Order: sequence, then C-alpha cells, then structure tokens
Amino acid sequence: MADGRDPWSAFADRQPGPRLRNAAGETTWFNWTQYPDHGPGAELLGEPATAADLGCGGGRNTAHLAGRGARVVGVDLSPVLLAQARERWQEVAGLRFVERSAVDFLTETDERFDAVCSVYGAVWFTDPDVLLPLLRKRLAPDGILAFSQEPPIEGCHGAQGTYIRRKNGGPPVPVVRWAHTCEQWRDILARHGFVTLDTRIVEAPDPAYVPTMLVRAAPRPS
Ligand SMILES: C[S@@+](CC[C@H](N)C(=O)[O-])C[C@H]1O[C@@H](n2cnc3c(N)ncnc32)[C@H](O)[C@@H]1O
Repeated sequence: MADGRDPWSAFADRQPGPRLRNAAGETTWFNWTQYPDHGPGAELLGEPATAADLGCGGGRNTAHLAGRGARVVGVDLSPVLLAQARERWQEVAGLRFVERSAVDFLTETDERFDAVCSVYGAVWFTDPDVLLPLLRKRLAPDGILAFSQEPPIEGCHGAQGTYIRRKNGGPPVPVVRWAHTCEQWRDILARHGFVTLDTRIVEAPDPAYVPTMLVRAAPRPS
C-alpha cells in the first residue's frame, strides 16, 4: 500500500534522515520517547529471548533488542519504512521484519514472545479491544508487554482521528489512534487478562513539550 492513501508512507516522507549514533556513540539504542537520548531504555523489557516490536518503523529499537541477544521480529504496515529497516539493519543477526498489520500478524503467527513492545506504534493505532486478546495469546506466561504513546489531551479519550500531511504536498491521510489515561489503560488491560506492572509519564526534556506515557503489563496468571 505504498501509495497516496498509505498514512505511514506519508509519515516516512516527513522523517528526518536516521541518526547514525546516539550521544554515547552507540549505533543502536532503545528510545521509548520522541526525544533524542531521553528516558529509560531496553531494560524495561528485561532480558527476553524472543521479542516482537509492533509498528517498528525504521527498526532501530528492534535492531537494538536483537543486538542484546533476542530473536526479534519487527512488524509494520509500511513498505517504505520496512525497506529502510531491512537495508539499514541487514547485518544484524536474529532480526526479521514482517509487513503486516499487528492484528494480522498476531492472528497468523504461532510464535510466543517473552516481550512485546510498541513505541508510538501499533498499540497506539489499533483498537485495544481488538488487539489485546490477540496479544495475550502470543505473550509467554511470564512475558512483558510494554508500550509508549502520547498521553491523551484532557477529556479526549478513545478513538481520536487526525491527519498526516506529506512534506511535499498531496492529500492529507487520515489516521486513528486510541487515547487513554494510565488509569483507563489499567482497566482495559485488566479486562483482557493483563496485570499492569507500572505506568509512568516521562516528562519531555523541556516540560513545555508533550510528555511520553509508558505502560508495562504482564499476563495475569490463569
Ligand atoms: C509513529 S511511528 C513509530 C515507529 C517506531 N516504533 C519508532 O519508534 O520510530 C508508527 C509506526 O507504526 C506503524 N503502524 C501503525 N499502525 C500499525 C498497525 N496497525 N500495524 C502495524 N504497524 C502499524 C506505522 O507504519 C509506523 O511505522
């Protein structure tokens, strides 16, 4: 779907070129926020042997998990972003990229994951009542689900529509994301068989900018 109606090709169009190293000089790193060299890292996922990154985009976080020794799959809708990811991370062992929606991927796969992460990714852009039952089945009993997204604007909860505009013109493309507070996430996760481990708001480096909401959950033992 690399055409004018694919919001994520429009999104790719607006991205600056990839940063090749972080402030510490590393070539891969894990960033839950949208600010460089900011906030916690991959330690929030423990030491998974297998992991899935839902809405992996250019795959830097995905490659970082593989570099830490996990067998990792990056899942994304965008052929444009996945082409960039495959080219950039082709040397990294234990890493593969799949072009699918998170819902289709989780429906089709028979893999179990020790960790599932989604950084401003598919968890934000999929109805949780559809995604979480599928995710619950594919998470190992002692696995971790962790995701980040923008916190909701006060009073604006549930499905929220917006438009992605291309850098060089062309029609804007609609996209829907699901906005919930930390408390609402706790309830939604509980409804789908998860225990929330923690939720937090990571302030932006300049607190006038949008913070990051981070949620971690585990399957409730049955
Ligand atoms: C804001 S970007 C974040 C990309 C990446 N996680 C990062 O931190 O750079 C959102 C990504 O989610 C992907 N995405 C959105 N909805 C999706 C879905 N339903 N299934 C899979 N990927 C999805 C988009 O293609 C895009 O790459």
